[in-house]
Amino acid sequence: MLVLSCSNLRKTYIVDTILDGISFTVENGDKIGVIGLNGSGKTTLFNILSGEVEQDSGEIYIQKDIKIGYLKQHTKIESNKTIFDECLEVLTPLLNMEKELGGLEEKISLESQKGETNKLKSLMDEYAHLSEKFLALNGYGYKSEIKGVLKGLGFSEDDFDKEVNILSGGQKSRLSLAKLLLEKPDILLLDEPTNHLDIDAIGWLEKFLKEYKGAALIISHDRYFLDNVVNRIFHIENLKMKIYNANYTEFMARRKKDLEIYKKHFEDQQREIKRQEEIIARFKSYGGEKYHRLAQSRQKLLDKMKVLTKPTDTMKAKIRFEPKIKSGRDVLKVEKLGKSFGDLKLLEDINFNIYRGEKVGLIGANGIGKTTLFKIVLNQ
Ligand SMILES: Nc1ncnc2c1ncn2[C@@H]1O[C@H](COP(=O)(O)OP(=O)(O)O)[C@@H](O)[C@H]1O
Ligand SMILES: [Mg+2]
Repeated sequence: MLVLSCSNLRKTYIVDTILDGISFTVENGDKIGVIGLNGSGKTTLFNILSGEVEQDSGEIYIQKDIKIGYLKQHTKIESNKTIFDECLEVLTPLLNMEKELGGLEEKISLESQKGETNKLKSLMDEYAHLSEKFLALNGYGYKSEIKGVLKGLGFSEDDFDKEVNILSGGQKSRLSLAKLLLEKPDILLLDEPTNHLDIDAIGWLEKFLKEYKGAALIISHDRYFLDNVVNRIFHIENLKMKIYNANYTEFMARRKKDLEIYKKHFEDQQREIKRQEEIIARFKSYGGEKYHRLAQSRQKLLDKMKVLTKPTDTMKAKIRFEPKIKSGRDVLKVEKLGKSFGDLKLLEDINFNIYRGEKVGLIGANGIGKTTLFKIVLNQ
């Protein structure tokens, strides 16, 4: 089912055109990676789709009764509630339903004392209808659902009672994401959702999104994450958007081919332009009315040609860091390292060697002691 479509979107900020001729459709259940260099207009597109920013021209069609949920790149959330209560708020309609069901139960038990009245029958009908809806919305499991999402995104049970205002920026972002996922909008717009997640939470989110019934558009620079989640790629480049019905790896392969073909077109065209220019120059050098006219008509054709822009290999920025001094083979040796803060034992019996040229990934859950280890190694 089609849930969203755009045709010919265009957006300009003062004089800078950011997006032009953007058209696409989104089907229910689509998982789409939106990619492009920084500043290419990805966030702007999301702002337009969410209705926060208005496009200059072009149409957006959103299927009736479809809810869009938007996780912004930088979230601000302020609240003196606890993390758990903040999540509960998302489920207010569900909580109201629960109350309503409780009220109906009371009425039913009162009415049933009078025997099989018509009123009892209609109360029972109402109850059946409402509890069916409640069940469909996972009304009996919402508490464990909240817990599951919070834990999945890296909160521990101890965190649940913490006040939102005292959280770090990263924690607030994770909470915003949790609330959005609990809301279950029909279309999720996620702007760099993995920025504040550790590996475990990224894995959890991958699974969650893969199983998500609605559609999701996800801006991300994380190719592994994209490969695990998306079935389509929207690539924004030079104001335009190209659509690939593929995961990230396939997209890269196809793009490489596209670039090669484009490069060949460009080179062919350049050669042709040069050839024409030479002919024109030759005609002109012959002199005379006839050759002048021939040169002119060829020049006109040349002027009308739609000249391709030079392909830029944006994927190939190469930066090298050369060390000032070349070290020996042993670079870092750590033996029996331990660290506690008061009663909290953070690191114990850590041993490792790093040799010249090695590139090592340091992984672990948030708060496990990775930064502390760096600080110790740096004598800070
Ligand atoms: N409110 C604004 N006013 C003027 N220029 C803006 C505004 N928002 C974004 N831009 C410009 O639009 C371009 C695209 O920005 P953005 O959509 O944030 O890119 P991305 O998310 O792909 O990194 C950038 O050049 C940015 O400076
Ligand atoms: Mg952005």
